Amino acid sequence: MQRAREWLREASSVAALTGAGISAESGIPTFRGAGGLWREFRAEDLATPEAFARDPRLVWEWYDWRRGLIAHAEPNAGHRALVELAQRVERFTLITQNVDGLHDRAGSRDVLKVHGDIWMVRCTACGRQTRDDRVPLPELPPHCECGGLLRPGVVWFGEPLPDNVWREAERATRQAEVFLVIGTAAVVYPAAGLVPLAKAAGAKVIEINLDETPYSAQVDCSLRGRAGELLPEVIA
Ligand code: OAD
Repeated sequence: MQRAREWLREASSVAALTGAGISAESGIPTFRGAGGLWREFRAEDLATPEAFARDPRLVWEWYDWRRGLIAHAEPNAGHRALVELAQRVERFTLITQNVDGLHDRAGSRDVLKVHGDIWMVRCTACGRQTRDDRVPLPELPPHCECGGLLRPGVVWFGEPLPDNVWREAERATRQAEVFLVIGTAAVVYPAAGLVPLAKAAGAKVIEINLDETPYSAQVDCSLRGRAGELLPEVIA
């Protein structure tokens, strides 16, 4: 912990990659942990273009449920610690796999959302993208003004990540002197690939996770515990 604190104090360029674990203490279930199943489905069964083509209503019911949980949740001490860190470091980039928007609500700016945003909806016919904060949505599945079927503005398994966002994420990772990996199982690619990229580019990599991950043995410092407790400590 002490070493990690010093690296963070001395760095002028820091990037952080967050996953579902940072929002767990806000009451949002992670994908691969306890409570990750919705009815009998796993994320991999629902967050795919194939699942949506087969049963758009079912997929939307899942998103509508998650949107409801998120709307009633508040950012936690982990989200807030990253806001504080950003204010202190010369160059700070926050990369998140989370679609919940809790980093924004905590006060983080310019968050790179590599998996999109659950509050955005996109028309599968005309391509128009808009924000829709209504909870619950009045109609499932929702439709666009043009009559087309709307889909969530998130990235599904098998889909490419938003080009610009991903390029920025890679650039920030390569430039980081310290790279934080927080609350992610680090098994979904390409996002998880940022961890070895940071390491190869010479960053000190600090992992914060309740459990061991595939990268725990390779990082420079692996802190085991809750993000909401460890992050405020490590930036202190
Ligand atoms: P996962 O659910 O796979 O992993 C959550 C991680 O957070 C696990 O490693 C837990 O040990 C850890 N964790 C849980 N609670 C924690 C806490 N309080 N503090 C610290 N760590 C904690 O979520 P992700 O890795 O984010 O993608 O999943 C990656 C992607 O898979 C998601 O973005 C989503 C999902 O399917 C898409 O939908 C495309």
